[in-house]
Amino acid sequence: MGDQRLLRVAQPVTEFGTPHLTALLQDMRDTMAHLDGAGLAAPQIGVDLRVVIFGGVANPRYPDAPDVADTVLINPELLPLSSEEEEGWEGCLSVPGLRGWVPRWKHLRYAGFDEGGQRFERVVEGFHARVVQHECDHLDGLLYPMRVRDFSRFGFIQELFGEDQPENDDLT
Ligand code: NI
Repeated sequence: MGDQRLLRVAQPVTEFGTPHLTALLQDMRDTMAHLDGAGLAAPQIGVDLRVVIFGGVANPRYPDAPDVADTVLINPELLPLSSEEEEGWEGCLSVPGLRGWVPRWKHLRYAGFDEGGQRFERVVEGFHARVVQHECDHLDGLLYPMRVRDFSRFGFIQELFGEDQPENDDLT
């Protein structure tokens, strides 16, 4: 947080199936795995493209987090399906050591392209919807602290929770 590259509106991907895109996705997967993350956006490693990854194998740090399919999502479009919001704890690799209580759309349709350029769409809710919104915010230069409304619920993990870290809060 504070790096200007996190504040840019990222550029759409125009070519799929290229060695450049393959290498970027490998770099993102390696980074996410190394940090035990649940998701990562290209701007978080300094790359100005509309590419996010999320989900995959269960996170050993958060064994009770709901499963989210291992997903590559490129040039995403998000559409809330109702005005209903849900609040939950979020963390971010770009904002280490902190957690915040963040409102998100509860029901969501999202669409985009996989790494081969195949378009797909999903209707999701809850934790899956939260992860997608967090990661796609990175593509528009938004970090979760910009979404926090109640700043009494934004702070250092140790101060907020002591030893009892919340589940489902590890979004990167
Ligand atoms: Ni993040």
